[in-house]
Amino acid sequence: MAELSNRLTALLGIEYPIIQEGMGPFKTNRIAAAASAAGGLGTVSMPGMTKDPAVGSRLLRENIEQVAASTDRPFAVNVPVGRDAAGTVLPVSEAYIRAVVEARDSDSTLSRQLVALTTSAGFPGEFRPLIRDAGLVHMHKVGSTKHARKAEDAGVDVIIASGYEMGGHTHATPVHTFVLVPNITEAVSVPVVLSGGARDGRTLAAALALGASGVAMGTRFIATEDNTDWHTAYAQKILDAGEGDDMVFPAVYGPARGLHNAGVDRLLEIVRTNEMSQDELTRWKDEALIRAQEDGDVDNGAMPAGQVVSGIHELVSIAEFIPRMAAEAADILRRLAGVGQPVH
Ligand SMILES: Cc1cc2nc3c(=O)[nH]c(=O)nc-3n(C[C@H](O)[C@H](O)[C@H](O)COP(=O)(O)O)c2cc1C
Repeated sequence: MAELSNRLTALLGIEYPIIQEGMGPFKTNRIAAAASAAGGLGTVSMPGMTKDPAVGSRLLRENIEQVAASTDRPFAVNVPVGRDAAGTVLPVSEAYIRAVVEARDSDSTLSRQLVALTTSAGFPGEFRPLIRDAGLVHMHKVGSTKHARKAEDAGVDVIIASGYEMGGHTHATPVHTFVLVPNITEAVSVPVVLSGGARDGRTLAAALALGASGVAMGTRFIATEDNTDWHTAYAQKILDAGEGDDMVFPAVYGPARGLHNAGVDRLLEIVRTNEMSQDELTRWKDEALIRAQEDGDVDNGAMPAGQVVSGIHELVSIAEFIPRMAAEAADILRRLAGVGQPVH
């Protein structure tokens, strides 16, 4: 829909300002390829924070190549950036950043299609020159205006403003999307993408009204016909969940939002009783995510999901959903443009 084209779509080379965000540690290869093929931007997810860096970067490269083989459109890769107690970027996060840069450098198809790196959690300031020189659009996800300003000052190209209602790792200071996004669009001049709570054309139109250039979604893309990498039981839980079925629990980098189940209760117990070392706990959390995403253990696994689950009731096909969402937003904006005009 040409009428929703803007500087974000131009920068990324996409048709619609709609992004499928990273949802590690399991694969999002199929939904990424489908989102890109439908005119949005798909994102390859990182394969886990407790992987041996060499193993992790090989898996990430395989996922990148799988997506490139499934669509000829542009796509992104997400790398959450962890730091150790001394403040050094974790070896696995560094390995993932380097794997993305190397993939882009090594292959002419990838250098055309792998257009963006989305970093999240910590900010990889020391890797900015590497990311910039690789020609990647650097998008960084933040939950506060302070972090948005810091990322813009460091040269980031796009800010993803994610509100507290988001699924997955959320923020220590709870600022909701409706408050956060206009705060950030006022504070920075690079394009801003709204994340957290988006699910349809109405939410895309609202994002544009708040000054954002597009939306990014996680939870909505889990419940899609294209998500055949994941166990269907997870998507069914998203469809069944209502208001109040989500909660915030301690995750790998601070709080995360997901569905309440026995797995989350067990996690809270492990944290309370201090029965595991930090390393053991991080591994337990990574495995709990994989248990739900890959094996469909929706009782004992961990199921990140946003509050938006309460508004998601049907499995959609990404090829139909993305253009429909854009058309719906454009239609709403056209109709609202007439509001306030005198009626003759
Ligand atoms: C299952 C799941 C896994 C996620 N994993 C990651 C991740 O690996 N890296 C990341 O930056 N964000 C992750 N997120 C957050 C999403 O990228 C996105 O910011 C969030 O889902 C947006 O809010 P929404 O769920 O309301 O659409 C995850 C979210 C979900 C639901």
